[in-house]
Amino acid sequence: MREQLANIRAQALSAVESAGTAAELDALRVQYLGKKGELTAVLKQMGKLSPEERPVMGQLANDVRAALEEALSRQGSILEARALEQRLRDEAVDVTVPGKPVKLGRRHPMYIALDEIKDIFIGMGFTVLDGPEIELAELNFDRLNAGEGHPSRDWSDTFYFDEDSRVMLRSQTSPMQVRAMDTMELPIRIIAPGRVYRKDEVDATHSPMFHQVEGMVIDKNVTMADLKGTLNTVVEKLYGKGTKTRFRPHHFPFTEPSCEMDVQCHKCGGVGCPTCKGEGWIELLGAGMIHPKVLQMSGIDPEVYSGWAFGMGLERTAMRRFKIADLRLIFENDVRFLEQF
Ligand code: DAH
Repeated sequence: MREQLANIRAQALSAVESAGTAAELDALRVQYLGKKGELTAVLKQMGKLSPEERPVMGQLANDVRAALEEALSRQGSILEARALEQRLRDEAVDVTVPGKPVKLGRRHPMYIALDEIKDIFIGMGFTVLDGPEIELAELNFDRLNAGEGHPSRDWSDTFYFDEDSRVMLRSQTSPMQVRAMDTMELPIRIIAPGRVYRKDEVDATHSPMFHQVEGMVIDKNVTMADLKGTLNTVVEKLYGKGTKTRFRPHHFPFTEPSCEMDVQCHKCGGVGCPTCKGEGWIELLGAGMIHPKVLQMSGIDPEVYSGWAFGMGLERTAMRRFKIADLRLIFENDVRFLEQF
């Protein structure tokens, strides 16, 4: 038996040392130490030994088991370390390989124009406001002196959310005037850019969603001269010194007097061409002196305060700024177009 044990020990140890995988190690563990393993088989014969031999052989068998277990665990660690090294080698990252170029986006031309507009107005002491696109008809119409029956309230022009026409997608940024008057201290100087919605078909100059920049000043002794002076300054900063504007009388329910401001066509310089539809001028905004009724509805005394306001078409402003001929280019997001700015 002594010999048997010595043989098992020698064989097992050399087998373990040359095992190349964890699976092989497991198989060896079963082969020698398992229930039907070789060492176990030897131990089962212990009963046949004399009482004097039994403890000696028992001790010897235990030594073999201990040596085997130790060898198994040592080889296990060696294999694990080897596997880790292999993985590190396989998964190594070569930090010197040139990277893949990242495609950077760029600012949309309309937002470039908006940032310029904001900068100009902020430089003149205006605050930039943001407001909801889902608006109450009360603020979009009533508080702006466009009562029941005003044509722009019609269902064919405006997107309503409810049967009784109380909630709508704002059709203009002008309700921001009311929101400013209701929440801000006088004097007020604000602009409020944002999306507006109307039931228009898409063509070269129309879209059911477009952008406006609202502007408003309320203070003592504010006149139409301030309106013209400020807007002319903005146009010159935006389009260059000497850019010509034209103010035409117009009608808006919330201003009196009202006007529209045109800027000379960038394509033809005023002679008339397809871009300006032969006019020589392109309409940029509506404006006027705030109607006394509008001031009154917001609790402002029109005998003490006066104000002017405007609503500028942002797409048009950007189109003029970057000489873009078709409104649809602004919304289609074709990268060949966008990459030009
Ligand atoms: N809200 C008008 C529109 O969408 C534009 C406008 C005209 C705004 C005159 C104003 C204004 O603030 O004073 O056509």
